[in-house]
Amino acid sequence: MDSNAPIGVFDSGVGGLTVMREIMRQIPNERIVYFGDTARVPYGSKSRETVIRYSRQIIRFLRTQEVKAIVVACNTASAYALDEIEGEMEIPIIGVVKPGAKAASGVTRNGKIGVIGTEATIGSRIYTRYIKEINENAEVVGKACPLFVPLVEEGLLHDPVTDEIAMRYLGSLIDIGIDTLILGCTHYPLIRSAVAKVVGENVTLVNPAYETAKELRELLEKENMLNPVRPELGTNQYQFFVSDAAEKFIRFANSIIKYGVLSAKIIHIEEY
Ligand code: DGL
Repeated sequence: MDSNAPIGVFDSGVGGLTVMREIMRQIPNERIVYFGDTARVPYGSKSRETVIRYSRQIIRFLRTQEVKAIVVACNTASAYALDEIEGEMEIPIIGVVKPGAKAASGVTRNGKIGVIGTEATIGSRIYTRYIKEINENAEVVGKACPLFVPLVEEGLLHDPVTDEIAMRYLGSLIDIGIDTLILGCTHYPLIRSAVAKVVGENVTLVNPAYETAKELRELLEKENMLNPVRPELGTNQYQFFVSDAAEKFIRFANSIIKYGVLSAKIIHIEEY
């Protein structure tokens, strides 16, 4: 596989841009093709079968872009679809859950780890499974926080309403004495400060987006697939595809990544 080929990154919508942002920072030579499934978001309240079907379609689309590796930049899709799909792939594919679970297992001191995410991610108990594979004595407590995604998408990143909701969601985790909290949904790094305010400085926040970019870099390095030179300016280093509402996507993208996102092409994803 050509090391100059792009990396395919996908999510249910805009959230995966927090993962893309980390990849851009940590491996700036890489070309990226991003797909956001803006027509079918949210995934967090859908069934496993549906999320697997959606993920397969997106992967088929990304393969048409001749990607050298795929990042499932969505916690819900990683939770529901990755185990199922991994075995079908001839190129590397990584999700955000395993890197997040690994990092949390490494930083906890008292073994009490909180995980927040969508209903699907928390219901799947996948973070618990991966953490227990590393440390079987760890105590992992999950909490679904479904209101966080719309709050972020409404731009209420620093707002008393978000602080209030965070207080309600996170109180039970504080009561059991967690010392580590996994931000197990793509949107949550954007409200990191609201979460930090509630849980306090003794709780370490783990950002799976950051950990995933780190793991991707290590994986490409090991496979000798890192792009040795940065693509020249004006060569479309980053390309964006969505399944609906391109203008709204472009606005959100420009609010979180430092790269002029000028266009996003609409793909009829059900055809894949
Ligand atoms: N990207 C999803 C996740 O990380 C959150 C949004 C959704 O429910 O689709 O789980």
